[in-house]
Order: sequence, then C-alpha cells, then structure tokens
Amino acid sequence: MLPRNGRVSVRSSLKSGAFLRLGAGLLTVLSVLAGADEARALDRVRATYLMRCGGCHGVEGVSGPTFVPELRDHVGTYLCSPEGRAYIVQVPNVSMSLIRDDALLAQVMNFVVFDLGGASTPAGAKPYTAQEVHELRQHPLHPTEFERARAGVLERTLAACAAKNAGH
Ligand code: HEC
Repeated sequence: MLPRNGRVSVRSSLKSGAFLRLGAGLLTVLSVLAGADEARALDRVRATYLMRCGGCHGVEGVSGPTFVPELRDHVGTYLCSPEGRAYIVQVPNVSMSLIRDDALLAQVMNFVVFDLGGASTPAGAKPYTAQEVHELRQHPLHPTEFERARAGVLERTLAACAAKNAGH
C-alpha cells in the first residue's frame, strides 16, 4: 500500500536503511569529486594553454613550419641553465600574456615544460612558482632583442645540458 504522506515514507526509508545507503552514496560522490578537483585544476591549466598559447604554438606544442618556436620535446632544454629558465618566462608572449594571475601562469609554464617539453626537460628540474614568475615577468624581453638574445641563451643552455649529461 502507498504511504499517505511524506512522513510515513521517511520513516519507512529509515527502517529500510535507505538513509545509510544514501550516506554511503554521498561519500562516494564526495571522494570522486575530490579526485575530480585535481583533474579540474589540470583541465583549467590545459584550457588556459589552449586559449592563450595554443593558437600560435599548437594544441600539442607543435607549431609546424612557421616562425613560432616548437615547444614539444624542445622547450625543456631551457631549464638546463638559470638564464634559459628565466628567458622562457621573459619572452614577450609569456611575460606580457593576458594570463595576469602569476600562479596560473606558473602552472601553465609547468605544463609547458614538464608535459610538452617531454624528454628535453632535464631530470630534477624544479617547477616554477608564482613568486618566480611574478619577478621574471617584471622584466619582459623586448621584441627587438629577441633574435639576438635567443641565439645566445640557446647556445649557452645547450652547453649547460651537454655538461649535465656528461655528469659535470
Ligand atoms: C601570438 C602568437 C603567440 C602566442 C599567443 C604565444 N606565443 Fe610563445 N612565441 C611566439 C613567437 C612568435 C615566439 C618567438 C619570439 C617572439 O617573436 O616573440 C614565441 C616564443 C615562445 C617561447 C620561447 C621558445 C624558444 O625556443 O625560444 C616560449 C617558451 C613560448 N613562446 C611559450 C608561450 C606560452 C607558454 C604562451 C602562452 C602563455 C605563448 N608562448 C603565447 C608566439 C606566440
């Protein structure tokens, strides 16, 4: 027979243990959500990369035959030297990016070097912090300085990578 009002149905639910099951269900949902928090944070970083960088550098960091430098399997090289590490944050499109939140830009740069950089990123490289990014972006590289600066930085950072690999 159907209960005539809500109260009866709540009591019978209690008796049947439905509330307990509901509680357990909620816990499961909460723990799934906690895991999803991390996934969401990563999604936010990837989405920001796509929106603010991917148009030029490619969804996967592959910009193809353009004048835009390739990030995939290459950009991590810059972490071999402090100068290179600073350089990739000081390039105009990064330091002056519309990503104004330093913490988010640090996360995007960490995605760029540790994910897109692949094997080019030296072992033991430290992630960027919001503070580091904050300080570096106060000194953006001037677009006209870029070519000369890049050639020098790349030459020295490649030498630093080679020295690291040789175990010095
Ligand atoms: C409008 C196109 C454009 C956008 C948007 C852009 N970049 Fe770039 N990026 C370039 C170009 C072009 C260069 C070469 C330097 C220059 O001309 O400024 C460059 C240089 C770089 C370099 C130096 C690589 C090297 O090998 O010298 C890095 C790292 C980089 N960009 C990362 C990013 C990240 C991260 C973002 C998003 C926050 C971003 N870029 C947004 C076009 C872009």
